Amino acid sequence: MTQHLLFKDIDEPRLTTLEVYRRRGGYAASERALAMEPAAVLAELNASGLRGRGGAGFPMGRKASFLPKGDMPKYLVCNADESEPGTFKDRELMQKTPHTLIEGIAITAYAVGANRSYIYIRGEYELQADILEAALEEAKAAGLVGDRILGSGFSLELWVHRGAGAYICGEETALLDSLEGKRGNPRLKPPFPANQGLYQGPTLINNVETLATVPHIIAMGGEEYARIGTETSTGTKLVSISGNVRRPGNYEIELGTPSRELIYDLAGGPPPGRDVKLWFPGGSSSPVLTKDDLDLAYDFDTMAKAGTMLGSGAIIVVDDSNSVVDVALKVAKFYRHESCGKCTPCREGTNWTVKMIERIRSGEATPMDLDIMASVQTNIIGHCLCVLGDAMAMPIGSMIEKFRPEFEEYIEARRREADLGSNEPLETPLQVLQGAR
Ligand SMILES: Cc1cc2nc3c(=O)[nH]c(=O)nc-3n(C[C@H](O)[C@H](O)[C@H](O)COP(=O)(O)O)c2cc1C
Ligand code: SF4
Repeated sequence: MTQHLLFKDIDEPRLTTLEVYRRRGGYAASERALAMEPAAVLAELNASGLRGRGGAGFPMGRKASFLPKGDMPKYLVCNADESEPGTFKDRELMQKTPHTLIEGIAITAYAVGANRSYIYIRGEYELQADILEAALEEAKAAGLVGDRILGSGFSLELWVHRGAGAYICGEETALLDSLEGKRGNPRLKPPFPANQGLYQGPTLINNVETLATVPHIIAMGGEEYARIGTETSTGTKLVSISGNVRRPGNYEIELGTPSRELIYDLAGGPPPGRDVKLWFPGGSSSPVLTKDDLDLAYDFDTMAKAGTMLGSGAIIVVDDSNSVVDVALKVAKFYRHESCGKCTPCREGTNWTVKMIERIRSGEATPMDLDIMASVQTNIIGHCLCVLGDAMAMPIGSMIEKFRPEFEEYIEARRREADLGSNEPLETPLQVLQGAR
């Protein structure tokens, strides 16, 4: 179940220093990669079957192959924004083994011919940014980053860039705008970053965990790596397990492990006397699953077949002491706050959803409001410029679908409690929406 590559030495004292990292075999993969042709390094990444760990699960080698060949300025950007609620795995990697990320970046940049690279780290991760900067200085001084790395003909400039704490800047094109010094708004795609990314140049963007896995792939060989996990979800994955569990934390698991083992055996399951009510398998953006889904294998395709997604690998467990209405409100409020406001379905739909859930909680809603709320979610999905709108609509839609009787009971109970004795006519749902902003 647990298999350690990324977390093999994670609790080794002073692993953040170059001395200890090298003693544990660090930067041997860089030497190995630089002795190969870039195309051969790319072939290893393709053979590994590694899928992006930032959310979408797109094959990393394939995305790297999209960058045009030839002599032109190309960029590698590491997405260290890690803002998806429930996700805290990149933080641990950067804090405890920053050189693994730096090494992964150097190897990947070599494979795609990028000579400039940025780590875009969320503003709140001050400690991790300081640690990364210190590690980068050491790596530069040792000739592992910079001009003619390890005596080869390959040079790489690498910068750590701190964001300002906006969830939307984790979306890859908003991240690029933010890096360029603009307001972080998503761009229309196409063009995709592989063709026109940072400063209009070909750009590869990958998540911290994705890039930190690269040295391990080069060390063991792509085919060997692909033997871990399932056929279409290869390798190990860091999962951040939080919520109502006894041992919350980051765990490195082999993809394809039954979800029950992750939630119960690793994270200890809900507190005594409590049962799992629902769980988010891939951060707060993923449609929820229930206790009936605990035996599903935890991998990209099984999650997709179950109508949800593995996402960033953040499992949030909600036990039966919680109301689904409260969970829905928390999710909706987060996305309302983080919507960049650029497109109407997301800007208005997130706000309407919050207002409708608040109406349910104040005892003013009728079961008809549930249908309206569900239809608002349907009208958001697929109609936005980026998937932030969907990221709210999918989990909220799934909660209404799977917990409809609980929503209805809640509505009835709150209506009774509100004691509608007053003669004031209730606002209709339409009036609520019109007055929502
Ligand atoms: C609203 C939104 C927020 C995102 N936040 C992150 C993030 O914090 N970290 C991340 O790696 N990817 C995030 N992504 C996914 C990125 O757009 C992109 O797919 C990812 O960085 C690609 O790396 P990967 O292929 O290694 O997964 C986000 C996407 C969206 C739509
Ligand atoms: S979906 Fe939301 S966050 Fe994305 S561009 Fe539209 S308004 Fe902005």
